Amino acid sequence: MSLCSNVALAVAIALGLAGCSERGGADPYALMEGENIYKAECASCHGAKLEGQADWRTRRPDGKLPAPPHDASGHTWHHPMVQLVAIAKHGMVPPNAPEGYVSDMPAFAGKLTDRQIENVLLWIESQWPAEIKQRRTEMLQRR
Ligand code: HEC
Repeated sequence: MSLCSNVALAVAIALGLAGCSERGGADPYALMEGENIYKAECASCHGAKLEGQADWRTRRPDGKLPAPPHDASGHTWHHPMVQLVAIAKHGMVPPNAPEGYVSDMPAFAGKLTDRQIENVLLWIESQWPAEIKQRRTEMLQRR
């Protein structure tokens, strides 16, 4: 084996290990991918700074809700990760919305892999202030 391929192997192992770091911990590669996906797939509705669309609590004349913020002012952080993943994968369908509910939130299953969906949500989570993360942990423990 040449020196080059040994180096390539060492780099691959290092990257592989980085990918195995603890869930919820700051895996920089996962967060970087998540941020890029957010910008490409989510920011157009949920806002470049996670701020959501204006008057997001008020239904539009067509009956649909605007996109909510994913920052501390929204309620994304109130929900457990499994529920957020399910919404991002399947959209606003049961059990996360009533049967027949009409929403602009797309279903990303088929477009993004499970890992990409998880990484974009991990990146969103990484943007929450420490106080919100703390409140979220307490709130979800009470369930
Ligand atoms: C075309 C606009 C649009 C795009 C693009 C979009 N969303 Fe949404 N999203 C919405 C709307 C609208 C809602 C609120 C749905 C409702 O309650 O009717 C929503 C709701 C959500 C929720 C539930 C939030 C909560 O607080 O309960 C999550 C999670 C979510 N979106 C994640 C994502 C992610 C992740 C992406 C990118 C991969 C994304 N969305 C892209 C429009 C969009």
